[in-house]
Amino acid sequence: MNFEKNNTTLLDQVIRSTSNKYFFNDLPENKFLYQKSIHEAANAVVNHLESRDTPFTGVSVEAIAEKFEKIFLDNESSLTLNETLEELKELYLNDAVNFHHNKYVAHLNCPVLTPALAAEVIISAINTSMDTWDQSIGGTFIELKLINWTLDHMGYPADADGIFTSGGTQSNLMGLLLARDQFIKTNYSIDPKMQGLPAEASKFRIFCSDVSHFSLKKNASLLGLGQNAIVPVAVDNHFRMDMSALEQAIEIEKAKGNIPIAVVGTAGTTDMGAIDPLTEIAAMAQQYGLWFHVDAAYGGGLLLSDKHKHKLKGLELSDSATIDYHKTYFQPVSSSAFFMRHKKYIDHIKYHADYLNSKEQEDEGIPNMVKKSIQTTRRFDALKLWLTLRVMGRRRLGQYIDDIIQLAQDTAMLLRTSGDFEVLNQPGISAILFRYQPFQKGQALSEEQLSRLNAYIRKAMFNEGEAVIASTKVNGSVYLKFTLLNPLTSVQDMEEIIHIIKKHGQEFFRNN
Ligand SMILES: Cc1ncc(COP(=O)(O)O)c(C=O)c1O
Repeated sequence: MNFEKNNTTLLDQVIRSTSNKYFFNDLPENKFLYQKSIHEAANAVVNHLESRDTPFTGVSVEAIAEKFEKIFLDNESSLTLNETLEELKELYLNDAVNFHHNKYVAHLNCPVLTPALAAEVIISAINTSMDTWDQSIGGTFIELKLINWTLDHMGYPADADGIFTSGGTQSNLMGLLLARDQFIKTNYSIDPKMQGLPAEASKFRIFCSDVSHFSLKKNASLLGLGQNAIVPVAVDNHFRMDMSALEQAIEIEKAKGNIPIAVVGTAGTTDMGAIDPLTEIAAMAQQYGLWFHVDAAYGGGLLLSDKHKHKLKGLELSDSATIDYHKTYFQPVSSSAFFMRHKKYIDHIKYHADYLNSKEQEDEGIPNMVKKSIQTTRRFDALKLWLTLRVMGRRRLGQYIDDIIQLAQDTAMLLRTSGDFEVLNQPGISAILFRYQPFQKGQALSEEQLSRLNAYIRKAMFNEGEAVIASTKVNGSVYLKFTLLNPLTSVQDMEEIIHIIKKHGQEFFRNN
């Protein structure tokens, strides 16, 4: 027994003596190891870039799962970082989806810019947490400057405010949370922050188009309102919220005894990139006394473009808004922000913790960002957009937005003129919904056959990996989707992707 105990102690000592060098600090050996490690990691990424010329390998779930069965995390490690990076190639990098690839045109995940990647190196090493001034210092001012820059472009009043968040889902949650609590505070004699929800909360109703993002439903349930609180409103031929349908939906809910509290306009729907009529929605929100939130997670990038910014007209009239920099500002995940028209709305979530942001500190004017966030410890994501803007400038980013919108219009035209495709939308931003629908032996295919054909194409393309596209359902039928976020993707790339789609389509007919 004693021997075992001594042995353990010896092992402990060996582990202890070797592992201190891994702490990031100013000791010579640690500094050296830090630089070497970053260099090795960057090399692994560059080697990965050079190792494959497709967006995906088509690897199966089973093949990846099997590799993980051999990994035991409790084993004493004797691997160097370089050896671990070699292992990582097998486990992750070799089969990672390459969002930077010209033929990755599937989800709202953009190619990223190198100033932002350089920022990631600094963010993680310095490890600033953005909750309080005493942990962030200049970081707080960088974030505030970017928030104010975005607010200016949005056209919000001087009294507006905002905060970086983990993504559009969290930003939308904040929008609905403020809508709910502002409504309660104004209409009931209770303070929702202290006393929770009134009995009538189960009757609260929030209106959004029936093609808006699912996070609204999820957030309504998280907020104790239930998913039934979300009332889907019909869209017009361009997948934009139909204003008469909105008015009708509000009236119907009122007649049922329910209580309309908010309307959400989407500036860039996930599947179609449709932009709701924001100015008209704002007017209706005012008429019915509703909070107006704009989900511009996708469309927020249009603010960068002198040519397309006008499409967001009406955003400036909203009470709150969501913008994802990790969608159309070419930033790595996560980079998103929530904006509110008036600073006073922060009171709904503000909390003073004596150890972090005491009331006394606030009275002294110390800018503790934690009061505006639903997170406490929070990454310094703002630095990525900061370095990007300082190195590249807003106009260059705006030109990228112009380029992807142009590419989407050219691609929609390509699909339409090819004759074998149904194109569902004229791209408002850069998403195109379509399906392959050739005549077979002179006959049109049934809805069921078309769904099977298009589902087959998407799966076959994913399994092959030469180009990655997405799919979704419209009225129960499967459609294919291009989300174009890469300004370096050319019309020729899109022609090649369309060729691949047709190739797999023909294969479907041969196999079925
Ligand atoms: C319109 C819209 N809103 C919100 C979200 C959610 O954003 P996130 O994935 O950053 O949480 C998305 C995601 O695609 C979206 O398309």
